[in-house]
Amino acid sequence: MTTRRSFLRATAGAGAGAALGILPATRLRGAPAVHLRRVTPVCIASGNGLTAVTRAMEVIHEEGDTLDAVLQGVTIVERDPEDTSVGYGGLPNLEGVVQLDSSIMHGPTRGAGAVASLEGIKAPSLVARDVMRYTDHVFLVGPGAQRFARSMGHPIEDLLTEEARRRWVEWRARLSDQDYFLTPEQTLHHLPDFCSGAGQGEGLLDSHDGMRPHGTIHCNVVNESGDLSGVTTTSGMAWKIPGRVGDSPIIGAGLYVDNDVGACGSTGRGEAVIKTVGSHAVVELMRGGMHPKDACLEALRRIVRFTIEPRLRDERGLPNFSVNYYAVNKKGEYAGAAIWAGARFAVSVDGDTRPEDSAYLFQPDR
Ligand code: GLY
Repeated sequence: MTTRRSFLRATAGAGAGAALGILPATRLRGAPAVHLRRVTPVCIASGNGLTAVTRAMEVIHEEGDTLDAVLQGVTIVERDPEDTSVGYGGLPNLEGVVQLDSSIMHGPTRGAGAVASLEGIKAPSLVARDVMRYTDHVFLVGPGAQRFARSMGHPIEDLLTEEARRRWVEWRARLSDQDYFLTPEQTLHHLPDFCSGAGQGEGLLDSHDGMRPHGTIHCNVVNESGDLSGVTTTSGMAWKIPGRVGDSPIIGAGLYVDNDVGACGSTGRGEAVIKTVGSHAVVELMRGGMHPKDACLEALRRIVRFTIEPRLRDERGLPNFSVNYYAVNKKGEYAGAAIWAGARFAVSVDGDTRPEDSAYLFQPDR
């Protein structure tokens, strides 16, 4: 059908840092000296990351380390109770417990760290950094990750805000007509503690797949020397089965950094990203010469091809959820891209911090 609007549009969401000169590259012990073109530093993040890229770029301009930059950025959001997709204030699992996932990668040292199903820590990205810094491992999960975090001095705190609890109670009440949970409408009682505020029930349908709100912050950066780092951190899919791990803490899925090539991270439906090893795929496509925008769109097409389950497809046979990729290469070229039109991402470059439209595969029928 020629009138269909499900067309590929690849004009949005791409930018480039200018190549200006020659700088000596960061040199790993034993590695041959490589000379890189000086790049314009750029930091990008998911749409909820404007404050994160602002802070990260300040650190870069102070000649701080690239991983320190993205961590200083995203921890602002992790500690913000207003962001219900990350850290403190994140929406809980089906038992009302907030479980957090995060991964980090440091390009110059080829370092990686990750935590999953971590409870009681506001900034899981800092625990992921400590896994990289203080252990011979890459990935700690659950109670072991929490004991490790406590040993590193991270305080254990209650992460469930009143707003997150109110939304969980609302969701639980609508779960089934065959259990004993009821909505205030069904009991004909008003619950002032939970329901007197504005926006009652909002957000229950705010995800792309209709029923499961999820959000995440990803942030990556390249500095003037072409060094890269990235971080992805999330409370994961709201109301998830306890112990569910999404893409965010899985190296290669929700985050991948290769200091020779570029960095990529993801937000959106983690299960789809895990099955296609999304961020690694984007970096490998960039290694093959693709611009970040084209690499992200190609990795998104793989997700479309992998989505054969009827429950995950709309009436046109397209995914009924979205995934977003954010990629930057060693030259400072960058892009955000999503399955569905309308996504935006945060960029800080050349002294300017702004949201930009993501490239996309499909527009919804109107
Ligand atoms: N992308 C975040 C998650 O699925 O947990």
